[in-house]
Amino acid sequence: MTAHHPDLLPNLPTLALPFRRRTGIGCAVHHRPVLSSTNTFLAGLARRGAPTGTIVLADHQTAGRGKYDRPWVSRPGESLLASVLLRPSRPLADLAQVTLVIAVAAAEAITRTTGLAPQIKWPNDLMVGGRKLSGILCELVLTPEGDLDHIIAGIGINIAQSRTDFPPELQAIATSISAETGRKVDRFDLFAALVERLDHRLSEWERLGFEPARHAWSVRSCTLGQPVTLSAPQAPRQGIAEALGPDGALCLRTADGTLHSVIFGEIPLAQTQATL
Ligand code: BTN
Repeated sequence: MTAHHPDLLPNLPTLALPFRRRTGIGCAVHHRPVLSSTNTFLAGLARRGAPTGTIVLADHQTAGRGKYDRPWVSRPGESLLASVLLRPSRPLADLAQVTLVIAVAAAEAITRTTGLAPQIKWPNDLMVGGRKLSGILCELVLTPEGDLDHIIAGIGINIAQSRTDFPPELQAIATSISAETGRKVDRFDLFAALVERLDHRLSEWERLGFEPARHAWSVRSCTLGQPVTLSAPQAPRQGIAEALGPDGALCLRTADGTLHSVIFGEIPLAQTQATL
């Protein structure tokens, strides 16, 4: 499926995705050459009642957002930049699992399209050779009553950057599919694989719960079994990452022997360079 120029996505709404979907993922695909942020654009569609599964794709973002209000920067046509609207029916307590399920789906799509085997750094960074290949930003919107209204899951995958295309401060910690494989991947092939894997993993999660994704996440993890320091949003906490719990929390054993269940946080990228 490479009849179009690989840097330009075809007019996706007119293309049928080549598989039968179990969820509504990809029911509508809004593709724009330039947006401030696909998450921000999709937030507007969500407020106007867009259905679950609606996707926004951009070739370029002028104000891409990462976790903890960091910028997410890439040049036009170099990355897959997508956001997916989800209106899951599972209880609020299960929602931290969504971001882990999406990380599994994105890793599987990359493996299927490129042969690379990304590892997952808790909770949802995709890593190759100790460098970050992809990031996921899930934003939850609640109703005034405190129930879930929707989730916007933004996924950025570095595709075509060479090592020196990244800003100097990222060159040691970021990578792309091209930098790892020496080949250009077709963005539509990667997008189609991502939609298929999201559809598969999210429908599995809705029907069977978190256990299948927990297993797949754990197999791909580069965090479990490692000494880590968790930071943001809480004060730094050191320990051994022992397991991913059945609820999606990271089980962290601190030096005093206590097992902590951590739902939110991150492991700074610098810690993963030891594995380079
Ligand atoms: C991270 O900090 O690791 C998360 C990065 C998420 C980036 C993606 S790119 C598509 C979507 N739109 C955004 O503004 N951010 C996400």
